[in-house]
Amino acid sequence: MTAAIGKGRARWPAVRAWVSVLAYCTSIFCLPGVAHADAEAGKTKAQTCVVCHGPMGNSTNPDYPILAGQSARYIYLELRDFKEGRRSDPRMSPMAAGLSREDMLDLADYFAAQRAEPVPFKADPVRVEAGRRKAAEVLCTMCHLGGFTGQNEIPRVAGQHYQYIVKQLQDFRERRRTNDAGDMTSVSKGLSDEDIMNLSAYTANLQ
Ligand code: HEC
Ligand code: HEC
Repeated sequence: MTAAIGKGRARWPAVRAWVSVLAYCTSIFCLPGVAHADAEAGKTKAQTCVVCHGPMGNSTNPDYPILAGQSARYIYLELRDFKEGRRSDPRMSPMAAGLSREDMLDLADYFAAQRAEPVPFKADPVRVEAGRRKAAEVLCTMCHLGGFTGQNEIPRVAGQHYQYIVKQLQDFRERRRTNDAGDMTSVSKGLSDEDIMNLSAYTANLQ
């Protein structure tokens, strides 16, 4: 028993060395060769995702969210939530079930680095304007930033599929999606169906 503990302790310097290498490599100063290895790993792992999320995360089916250009931190957190059951969907949950933490980080880096292709979306200008006014009133951009470009754990919504955005706002409002620590639950509580359609038209129409 004591011997085993001693052995475990002896490993710590090696573990710490790895942790500093990892910390170094997630900083902007990381060697390009090392960063490339991660992106390559992510690309290989992403082969199973493109069936639904489209080539390089540019989904063309509005049931499946666009992942290209989404915040890496947000993608990682969503994969973890699907895996651990905090967010659930019959098509997506099984896909996250078998992923390791490293898989999720590689996949998040890969999709965040892809260029989002604009989706052809014919927005009703009256809805877009009503959505813009509602977004200003509810202060959505306080978290999602101007233009809904997102930041860190807050997703980019600009240019996302209209149908997907509508579903998410409804899911938050009806408390079918509750993995957001309450931010979106309280925001969506006061939204009518009309508000949701208007906000979705406005944000889907942003590039
Ligand atoms: C069988 C289809 C399918 C496959 C394959 C699939 N997904 Fe998904 N994914 C979905 C659906 C559907 C949703 C949206 C669920 C909802 O409406 O909440 C989703 C949502 C997501 C989200 C959340 C995006 C957001 O904007 O909130 C991420 C991240 C994600 N998928 C990553 C992946 C990755 C990485 C893979 C490959 C390992 C993958 N998906 C494979 C169907 C799929
Ligand atoms: C207090 C901060 C905050 C405010 C204000 C806010 N959001 Fe969010 N929003 C979040 C966070 C955090 C998430 C991600 C939750 C998670 O981890 O799954 C999110 C998620 C979303 C999503 C899901 C995106 C996806 O890819 O699945 C949509 C759509 C959205 N917000 C739209 C809006 C709109 C429209 C408003 C204004 C009416 C708004 N948000 C106001 C913090 C905020």
